[in-house]
Amino acid sequence: MYAPLWCLCIVVVSAIADNPVVNDCILTGGDKKSAAEQALLQRLAPLKNKIFYASDDEDGDTYKYTFVICGQVNTSTSLYAGLVQSKAGSPDTVIGRYNDTHLINGTDWIMLFYKSGDKYDNHCGKESRQAMVMISCNKNTPGDAFTIISEERNKTSNCFYLFEMDSSVACPAEESHLSVGSILLIVFAVLIAVYIIGGFLYKRFVVGAKGIEQFPNITFWQEFGNLVADGCDFVCRSRPRSSETAYRGVGDDQLGEEPEERDDHLLPM
Ligand SMILES: *[C@@H]1O[C@H](CO)[C@@H](O)[C@H](O)[C@H]1NC(C)=O
Ligand SMILES: *[C@@H]1O[C@H](CO)[C@@H](O)[C@H](O)[C@H]1NC(C)=O
Ligand SMILES: *[C@@H]1O[C@H](CO)[C@@H](O)[C@H](O)[C@H]1NC(C)=O
Repeated sequence: MYAPLWCLCIVVVSAIADNPVVNDCILTGGDKKSAAEQALLQRLAPLKNKIFYASDDEDGDTYKYTFVICGQVNTSTSLYAGLVQSKAGSPDTVIGRYNDTHLINGTDWIMLFYKSGDKYDNHCGKESRQAMVMISCNKNTPGDAFTIISEERNKTSNCFYLFEMDSSVACPAEESHLSVGSILLIVFAVLIAVYIIGGFLYKRFVVGAKGIEQFPNITFWQEFGNLVADGCDFVCRSRPRSSETAYRGVGDDQLGEEPEERDDHLLPM
């Protein structure tokens, strides 16, 4: 009975084992994942596996930098290589690995750290290299202008490579300019439009109505209109409506009569 479950487990486990490079940033901090960092990872998702290149000339040598957001730099055989420095004629150096990712942000920037890079040979107390990438808000690009700013290695510890780039993912979320009230109004208007158009089409093509009869629920609305008119009549009218004046035709005699009538009403004495 448990055999199918076991098979499923084995298939899943072997699929994971076959693919040791989990193509995703692993956040620094062990089992306790920071909710803030996970939220930031979500914001970086559109850039996931995108490849960015930068280069830098130094003492006649050209250093190239390849940066992949939460993915493997595919020219490197080194596991988890997320930011790699290469120079013609030299083996590549991994500056930072995405299995050691740290993220912080401010209103219009996100800073990504890749640690666990290859160790320095002489500098910085032979510690692991680390990369910092400052991603600044730029609404016009999904990701662009990746450049190296500096390499700090004249310290005995906490050295770093600093990069910057532009991306819209670092921009603060745009607030909706529509208030709840206007959204409700729009929804209401749309519902009315759907009701009228849908009802019209239904009556015209399904029921086969013609003329004013095509208006949905026409009898109901006509009665409703009468009711509203009666209600208004009752509530708003200041003097009782006598059917005599109400239905009398407009004639010359009446024009003369009218002011008298009004005076009577205003000054009952
Ligand atoms: C690395 O990625 C580039 C761009 O996606 C692709 O053209 C190239 O074939 C890949 N190389 C390897 C070794 O996977
Ligand atoms: C990341 O992966 C590298 C290579 O497998 C390993 O040496 C390093 O210890 C890992 N870092 C973390 C924080 O797991
Ligand atoms: C940092 O990012 C989080 C997650 O997207 C966001 O909720 C927060 O407002 C951002 N911090 C600042 C200062 O904008």
